[in-house]
Amino acid sequence: MFLSWLLLLAGSVLTVFGTPVDQGSHFLDKRATDKVSAAWYAGWHSEDFPLSKVSWEKYTHLIYSFAITEPDVHTISLSGSDGKVLPQFVKTAHENGVKAILSVGGWGGSQWFSSNVGSAKNRTAFVKTVTDFATKYDLDGLDFDWEYPGEQGIGCNVVSPHDTNNFLSFLQELRADPIGEKLILSAPTPVTVWSDASGNPSTDVSGFADVLDWIEIMDYDVWGSWDSTVGPNSPLNDTCAPAADQGGSAASAAKLWEAAGFPSSKIVLGVASYGHSFFVPASDAFTCAGCSTLKAFPAYDAAKQPLGDKWDNLTNVDQCGAVSGPSGVFDFFGLIDGGFLNPDGSVASGIDYRFDSCSQTAYVYNATSSVMVSFDNAQAFAAKGNFIKSSNLRGFAIWEAGGDSNDILLDSIRKAML
Ligand SMILES: *[C@@H]1O[C@H](CO)[C@@H](O)[C@H](O)[C@H]1NC(C)=O
Ligand SMILES: *[C@@H]1O[C@H](CO)[C@@H](O)[C@H](O)[C@H]1NC(C)=O
Ligand SMILES: *[C@@H]1O[C@H](CO)[C@@H](O)[C@H](O)[C@H]1NC(C)=O
Ligand SMILES: *[C@@H]1O[C@H](CO)[C@@H](O)[C@H](O)[C@H]1NC(C)=O
Repeated sequence: MFLSWLLLLAGSVLTVFGTPVDQGSHFLDKRATDKVSAAWYAGWHSEDFPLSKVSWEKYTHLIYSFAITEPDVHTISLSGSDGKVLPQFVKTAHENGVKAILSVGGWGGSQWFSSNVGSAKNRTAFVKTVTDFATKYDLDGLDFDWEYPGEQGIGCNVVSPHDTNNFLSFLQELRADPIGEKLILSAPTPVTVWSDASGNPSTDVSGFADVLDWIEIMDYDVWGSWDSTVGPNSPLNDTCAPAADQGGSAASAAKLWEAAGFPSSKIVLGVASYGHSFFVPASDAFTCAGCSTLKAFPAYDAAKQPLGDKWDNLTNVDQCGAVSGPSGVFDFFGLIDGGFLNPDGSVASGIDYRFDSCSQTAYVYNATSSVMVSFDNAQAFAAKGNFIKSSNLRGFAIWEAGGDSNDILLDSIRKAML
């Protein structure tokens, strides 16, 4: 039984009593579980990563990103996300038996959530805005990526101490709507629980669990160029790290959300097909001069932020108009393009490597360019898949579908989780 499952999951041809039975589609393993295998599809990368490159048969849900909030509560906008692709996205998803979800908000698109749900009148109007949108595009669900209720995100969001309560009232009204009642409703969250009116993590979010199908805990950007040392982008665990380096993790976040009333069966783990890069001089990178072992949490030179892969720019301008240097983000495919990894995902020759046993994530380092990258490889995704399974979480959602290469990450997490 176990062996046939493995074979089936690998999508191979099963031999029963000597007769080859082509399993054909991958739909069988979708039906066998209500686990969520999802990814966000970034509309603005659709030229490099067209719909035809999505491995639809390996997903249960794909989430188009983003429709952004607008000052006018009667509108959400697809500007900046190659919105013309959305109808074809939904059609292709449906042809493949995949649920098509639209994500509203995102880091750059959450500016007006607070005012859109800021009064009873606005909530009613916003319910109509999003349900009309869902009907127009034949969507199966809506994903509310508010970064973050009750807290400033990108820098120019409207924020109110009542955000989390208003968000809940809005979702309750949406769920009670005849269209909203049939939609899959989800919400990405940070690794800490949404703030309450006093600015502390909410202690009871069970009301959200009643109206949402699930949350996706965004276990990424836990570490980046805003921290004083290199650290894991997407830690599975952090309680095993030195006290000063416990910045949140999949394990601690799931625990926090569960303690606040969110059942594990409604928690999807948000995982990253990208990593963050840092400029680390060789004198700081290794445990000793002449050693080849990479140091954990080394210092780095923030003034020399490396440029990431082809999806990064030397200068980035955000939705608030703030100008910054490169993000330094390397997608998994970008680590292959950049010479850190071989096309099969193994470490390229001449590159130093460390797999951190606490965060269960990988590091690569090019001593010539001084570039160190914290990222998830197949081993890290397998560890997360095992964690999802052993903790009875609902599944995974990858930011973003196009970051992978040859499904190395996707196949690894599915194999471990299913
Ligand atoms: C309601 O929405 C309008 C824009 O449509 C906005 O001007 C107003 O400030 C919002 N009300 C609240 C209380 O946020
Ligand atoms: C996290 O680390 C702690 C030790 O600090 C350990 O007890 C726990 O099992 C680990 N959790 C996971 C999911 O690895
Ligand atoms: C880089 O620039 C392009 C074109 O302006 C933009 O679409 C993209 O979002 C930028 N990348 C980042 C990481 O901001
Ligand atoms: C390391 O970086 C140097 C300088 O940018 C580059 O020439 C070299 O190809 C890189 N090494 C590998 C293995 O990619």
